[in-house]
Amino acid sequence: MKKRIFSGAQPTGNLHIGNYLGALKNWVALQNEYESFFCIVNLHAVTVAQEPKVLRQKTLDLARIYLASGIDPQISTVYVQSDVSEHSELAWILNCVARIGELERMTQFKDKSRVRGENVSAGLLVYPTLMASDILLYKTDLVPVGHDQKQHLEITRDLATRFNRDYGETFKIPDAFISPTGAKILSLADAAKKMSKSDENLNGSIFLLDDADIIQKKIKRAVTDSGTNIKFDESRPAINNLLTIYQLLTGKTAEECEANFAGKGYGNLKSELAETVVEFLRPFQERVKQIDDGELEKILKTGAEKARSIARETLKTVYERMGIVGAR
Ligand code: AMP
Ligand code: TRP
Repeated sequence: MKKRIFSGAQPTGNLHIGNYLGALKNWVALQNEYESFFCIVNLHAVTVAQEPKVLRQKTLDLARIYLASGIDPQISTVYVQSDVSEHSELAWILNCVARIGELERMTQFKDKSRVRGENVSAGLLVYPTLMASDILLYKTDLVPVGHDQKQHLEITRDLATRFNRDYGETFKIPDAFISPTGAKILSLADAAKKMSKSDENLNGSIFLLDDADIIQKKIKRAVTDSGTNIKFDESRPAINNLLTIYQLLTGKTAEECEANFAGKGYGNLKSELAETVVEFLRPFQERVKQIDDGELEKILKTGAEKARSIARETLKTVYERMGIVGAR
């Protein structure tokens, strides 16, 4: 029996190269080895207000991006979270297992509520219980995510362990898969911040659907650090970041990247990086455009059916263990 992976992204904003390098690229690489579930988590998206028309469109666009990245629907299960209502049902149960204190300690929640104070949705607080339910429904072994999701994986493990202790062995305890390179791609405009969909400064992110001109401009303007040689160096985060993007897109080793730029300056690094990114994104964007609407609908429908058949079994066991019974 193959081990399972589960991961997902929110259909909000625009996906950037950090999302690709930190998450999607790994999903694609792992799908042959693992039985894989890749979800478009639209219920997580509504923890902050969304324009309905835009959300609807972004949900399908994200499915196209998954496929264009190389996720193969013949071998992986691709579906939309709201199509499998078991996610919400198990999330309710986990809301009753989670403690307010531990939810309030999540850094993502703290960051968001710091800005908006009391005016955040209750959904934002319980965001991690929905994420835990996504993962636990499928008896997932491994969850490939970027570094910012590490804490959410830890709470998922805690909730599963607590449930198993109180009601008997039910959930598999999942591990995070966080790649040693690329799990935290930084903003091009400020190397003290991660590249983020919600950053107001659009120059900080290379979006997967940016055109060549924009990409060239953003990379040209990218911040650099002091020092002149082009080498991986933890104390120079801006150069490290540009080299990491270059390394992951070319598939070269760190030594090969450094050898390539030996004796060259920032200008060379930026122009070669821009060319690499543009050449990578050109065929990617072509594939996004070519995905047929009808075909996409079929893939998501088949994916949801497969996911539901597994999720239903897990939820049934959970209800039985807890003594939740009714007429059905
Ligand atoms: P999101 O778009 O927030 O749903 O994130 C989708 C995936 O991209 C998650 O696994 C994140 O951890 C990952 N991710 C987001 N931002 C970055 C970044 N700057 N560098 C690496 N991975 C990231
Ligand atoms: N919280 C994740 C993010 O913002 C998205 C997500 C939701 C997820 N459910 C998940 C990721 C389950 C991995 C597994 O990136």
